[in-house]
Amino acid sequence: MSLRLPDSGAPTGPDGRRHAPSADRNAEAILAVLRDEAPEGRMLEIAAGTGQHAARFAAALPALLWQPTDVDPANLPSIEAWREASGAPNLRAPILLDATRPGWPARHPCEALLIVNLLHLIPETEAAAVLCHAASALTPGGTLFLYGPFLRDGRPGSAGDESFDASLRAQNPEIGLKDSTWIEERLAEAGLAVRRIEMPAHNLMFVARRT
Ligand SMILES: C[S@@+](CC[C@H](N)C(=O)[O-])C[C@H]1O[C@@H](n2cnc3c(N)ncnc32)[C@H](O)[C@@H]1O
Repeated sequence: MSLRLPDSGAPTGPDGRRHAPSADRNAEAILAVLRDEAPEGRMLEIAAGTGQHAARFAAALPALLWQPTDVDPANLPSIEAWREASGAPNLRAPILLDATRPGWPARHPCEALLIVNLLHLIPETEAAAVLCHAASALTPGGTLFLYGPFLRDGRPGSAGDESFDASLRAQNPEIGLKDSTWIEERLAEAGLAVRRIEMPAHNLMFVARRT
């Protein structure tokens, strides 16, 4: 079932690029964290969506070889159109990847991994699988960047998050915002040292390093 999300129906430009307003709003704050914390090497972006982040971040961070991925084949043309428009030589063509399925970490070992606004869209068991797979894809010293809206002690961080969470659960009772402590426990179990950073608009970024 496709979900009704605030960015659903992001318009497609004549060159095939789609624009999600949320990806414009949060890009600068996410990039600031990546600039400070990302190691050099291979960056695997899970759930790249429109491809806006991939184009912007790869151009700004030339020491990273950026590989955008998404589970939905319909997203690949937009990601590719953003790649062509960016001209960034360190941005690779997008590939299909379902982050909940086993097997991909062995095919895509990486020094850095980015996941933005995915975990609230999938059930808890799948979110746990994504975190476990992400941890095992990281090389020693590698870092996972996990961004999005999360519950804090089981409670939404804002009235906006509360209604967003309710609208997700109304569409599918198995999905919705995950709790920040639950995330930290899963990442620690997977062998990562995790830190959380408060981000604008009540979002969080987890920076989790393989020690
Ligand atoms: C809300 S969009 C976020 C896109 C982008 N990260 C951003 O912030 O603009 C969620 C994305 O997750 C992708 N997705 C959903 N389930 C996935 C899965 N199991 N593996 C990989 N990507 C998935 C969707 O196709 C969609 O592109």
